[in-house]
Amino acid sequence: MSAIDYSKPARSKQTRHKSRHIARLSSIPVFGRSKLLSRIQSVAAQSAPGRRYPQMMAFLEVSKWLVPYFRDVFHKNARYRTYPTGESGVFPAGSPSSALRVAVAADWGTGTLESEQVAANIKAGKPHFTLHLGDVYHLGDAQEIEENCLGQTTKNYGGVAWPFGSRGSFALMGNHEMYSGGQGYYERFLPKLGLLHGDGTVKSQQYAGFFCLETEHWILLGLDTGYHSGGIPLLGAIPGVNTIPALNVDARFDDKMLKWLKATMDVVQPKTGAKKTVIVMTHHQPLSSFEQYYTKPAQQLADLGILDGQEFVWLYGHEHRLTIYRKQEVVEGLVAYPRCIGHGGMPVSVSKLRKPDEKVLYYDPRVHAIDVEHPKTKVGYNGHLMLILEGDRLTIEYHDIVKNRVLLTETFRQGPGGELEHTCSKAAERGLKTGR
Ligand SMILES: [Fe+2]
Repeated sequence: MSAIDYSKPARSKQTRHKSRHIARLSSIPVFGRSKLLSRIQSVAAQSAPGRRYPQMMAFLEVSKWLVPYFRDVFHKNARYRTYPTGESGVFPAGSPSSALRVAVAADWGTGTLESEQVAANIKAGKPHFTLHLGDVYHLGDAQEIEENCLGQTTKNYGGVAWPFGSRGSFALMGNHEMYSGGQGYYERFLPKLGLLHGDGTVKSQQYAGFFCLETEHWILLGLDTGYHSGGIPLLGAIPGVNTIPALNVDARFDDKMLKWLKATMDVVQPKTGAKKTVIVMTHHQPLSSFEQYYTKPAQQLADLGILDGQEFVWLYGHEHRLTIYRKQEVVEGLVAYPRCIGHGGMPVSVSKLRKPDEKVLYYDPRVHAIDVEHPKTKVGYNGHLMLILEGDRLTIEYHDIVKNRVLLTETFRQGPGGELEHTCSKAAERGLKTGR
């Protein structure tokens, strides 16, 4: 595909991609992240391109979404999946002759022109592994997994395919996959994921919504916050309500996953000598300077004690923007370098800090017109990360959707006391700002 020209971004109907305008409705406060709106968005996204007022028409076509919506409300969630007997959920990354390259994106599964461009940018980096941190829009059901992740083309739209790494690919589930009960993610997406043969067939499958990718010096933990976030419609979007476990919107780790995590860390973490360094990945954000966030998973991690005395990098999405935070004590005893990377494929939220914020090392305030016909409707810039693992040194490149440019590079290396030595260099002319 040819690169998107952000001085005059094409309309979706010209490119046969799904509508960014429909996707952008998710930015509406409170209602925007709800299961009800996702059902309406899903109907709207299937309507013929070029139709006038697709959002309004979808809303008026009550029969198309009201019955399915109530089915969503009363559906049975897929049973929580763990790894079957004989499968550990630990996947050796292998040791390539040069550095191991792992591409990461979150909130990518929109089927928009931007998601296709980010996929092309990821592919161009020739990753050994690709990781998606969840959210396939708008409901993540079987049809949307096929169209937005597996490249299936329909009458109205060209499909978009998630780029698989040469050695494998893994994915977390987000709240959107759970809005339809999680069956699409478990039954259509997971059978394609895991360690892969050179021809893309699966060598060792990712069976559950969590995984551990292991190297000689690093442990990459993909941990599932999506399953317990689909919950009771609308309530989950109301600030403060996301801490009530009974509503199933607190994004907590399931007890079965915690049991796996404890057992896994007992095995993969050396008993003597230097510990391996950990990268935690979740769909939901453990903190935010811009919107509500989810504290339960961080508390569960601290209670489990697997990261005692060790600093770590925490990558996550759900919030549709790029923010790099300074080292934080996320909850008592848990010290992380949090990085919000939910700018993978959704129209990115406009990011403005209300007041200076010490916690924010860098964020991306840049905006562009959503398309040529709507110059006053502004959104931010999409992108992805490339992790480069070379021995005990991690380099993270933050790639912009525009020309795949690197906006920021940082490195991490574990010191003798479990602390992380960190360096960071920003490309000065490329628009990231500090929170100060
Ligand atoms: Fe999400």
